[in-house]
Order: sequence, then structure tokens, then C-alpha cells
Amino acid sequence: MSAATNQAHAGEEGTRRDFIYIAAGAAAAVGAAATIWPFIDQMNPAADTLALSTTEVDLSAVVVGQQIKVMWQGKPVFVRHRTAAEIAAAQRDDYANLKDPQHDAERLLQENGQPGKAEWLILQASCTHLGCVPTFVTGSSYGGWFCPCHGSDYDTSGRIRRGPAPRNLDVAPYVFVTDTSIRIG
Ligand code: FES
Repeated sequence: MSAATNQAHAGEEGTRRDFIYIAAGAAAAVGAAATIWPFIDQMNPAADTLALSTTEVDLSAVVVGQQIKVMWQGKPVFVRHRTAAEIAAAQRDDYANLKDPQHDAERLLQENGQPGKAEWLILQASCTHLGCVPTFVTGSSYGGWFCPCHGSDYDTSGRIRRGPAPRNLDVAPYVFVTDTSIRIG
């Protein structure tokens, strides 16, 4: 047999072997996918878990100057019914020297882009420094929330005014479902 014929046979052998390897690899991949699928399927949220991804809040029992804390997706959220003085202070300071500049009206925007209501402020209750829960302290320097962990001070719009927190308290995504109820998430 000539060298050329030997090379041709060797080439065919190689091609057949490659095909067998590829076919075996493909079968293994299908097998692995079939094995993994039930696990992936299990990881999809069940209907009852999806339901918990939103939280409905009845505002009718929250009086002016009161704040309630509700849980949304396992995290605390402040729902604050602001007084006229708190609203006035928040709007007045729209033009103050802010670390994280944002107008009060922007912080009230609903998730659907509609304006919010000045008396209702919906904030994630987590200090943007290291995640402690701030406390609303009437008469504090900026009239809003104070974080006891390292002394961050937020105003009545939840904007950071002093201390190590790098940005304003995050606004929770919400919409008004009726005049007196909101859905968070
Ligand atoms: S966690 Fe709030 S100031 Fe550090």
C-alpha cells in the first residue's frame, strides 16, 4: 500500500473516530440536560412565591405623622404618612446642597411613571451605608431618619444629608391601587 493510500485511510479513521466522539458527547449532553432539567424546573418560583413578590398595603389606618413598616420580598419597607411640615421641609430642600441630588417629587414617583402623593413616602428601610434600619426621629437635624449604626442622617424625603451613607434611601417600587391602598413590587 502506498504512503498516500495509508494517509487517506488514516484520515478516514480519524474522521470516523471524531464522529464517534462527537456523537457520544452529544448523547452525554442530552443526558445531562435531561438530568438537570428537573432541578432547574424546581428552581422556578411557585405561584405562591410569586404572589409574595408584591405586597398590598391599606393606607386608611395610617394617620398623618405615622409610619408603618411592612415586609416586601423579605425586606422591610417604610410607609410614611408625612405631615405638612415634613412635606414643606422636603420641598424646600430640593435646592439644598445634596450629596445625592434628587427632588422630592422624583422620590414620590410611582412605578408606572405617574406622580405620587406628597403625603405618602414609600422607602426601603435599609441604610445605604451598610444596611442597618434607620429610625425616624422627630426633631433630628434634618427632621427625618437617623441610622444609629454609624450616624447617617436622612431628611424628610429620605435623602442623605450627613454621615457615611453614599446615597439616599432607596424608594420602593409601588403604585396606588385605589385612593387608599398601594401595591409594593
Ligand atoms: S449602616 Fe447606617 S450609617 Fe452605617
